[in-house]
Amino acid sequence: MIELKTENELAVLREAGRVVARVLRAVREEAKVGTSLLDLDRLAADLLADAGAKSSFQHYHPRFAPSPYPAVLCTSVNDAVVHGVPTGYRLADGDLLSVDFGASVDGWHGDAAISFVVGEADPADLDLIATTERALRAGIAQARPGNRLGDVGHAIGAIGRGAGYGLLADHGGHGVGRAMHEAPHVPNEGRQGEGLRLRPGMVLAIEPMFLRGGNDDYRHGEDGWTLYTVNGTRAAHVEHTIAVTADGPRILTEL
Ligand code: MF3
Ligand code: CO
Repeated sequence: MIELKTENELAVLREAGRVVARVLRAVREEAKVGTSLLDLDRLAADLLADAGAKSSFQHYHPRFAPSPYPAVLCTSVNDAVVHGVPTGYRLADGDLLSVDFGASVDGWHGDAAISFVVGEADPADLDLIATTERALRAGIAQARPGNRLGDVGHAIGAIGRGAGYGLLADHGGHGVGRAMHEAPHVPNEGRQGEGLRLRPGMVLAIEPMFLRGGNDDYRHGEDGWTLYTVNGTRAAHVEHTIAVTADGPRILTEL
């Protein structure tokens, strides 16, 4: 079932989204060559507590995972695509870091992700990130009443495929609300005019995951959570939680 949210509920979702945006900005500022992933996780946990919000990720135990998620951030470095578990690893010059973060306020969730390079960047990584961000914007622009989920997926997928990137297999966005993961699944590829019709009050996390090298495949890391590209090429992931409204898409997870 897809729950349509009221304006009052959207206001609380927006509060959760603001917390998510603030934490991601702080993490980005803190992430330098030499910073450890656990330092970033601790910073996020502290800011979360200050905001009186709760982690959407910590202790989360979906069917696909072998163990409850142990951190508040996902920190995916280089060939890690998503769900990277923070470790003592210290960021090195040129690392491509994707940070995914979710928080709830009064039980309503926000979920967003950013990707960036620390230190001196390989221009090909910057292209990858810029293209993934462009696909996110294009997908969001399609999230209007009367459009369909296929319009969102088509916008994202056409940009990723057009640039020659892989799209992470089996993964996409999702509904967001009183649970971080709700119906519907939001594929990163689709056919225009097909799929679920979008209605005001739907809240969706839209999240392109693009892989350099054109391959869609992944493998699991030994922690059971981290998803890596199969050939060691780098990947980027960006995400916003948005609401479909009569006035068009409303981004809930920006400042
Ligand atoms: N934003 C991520 C997603 O939608 C959530 C991370 S999984 C978790 O898949 F277990 F860390 F919560
Ligand atoms: Co998500």
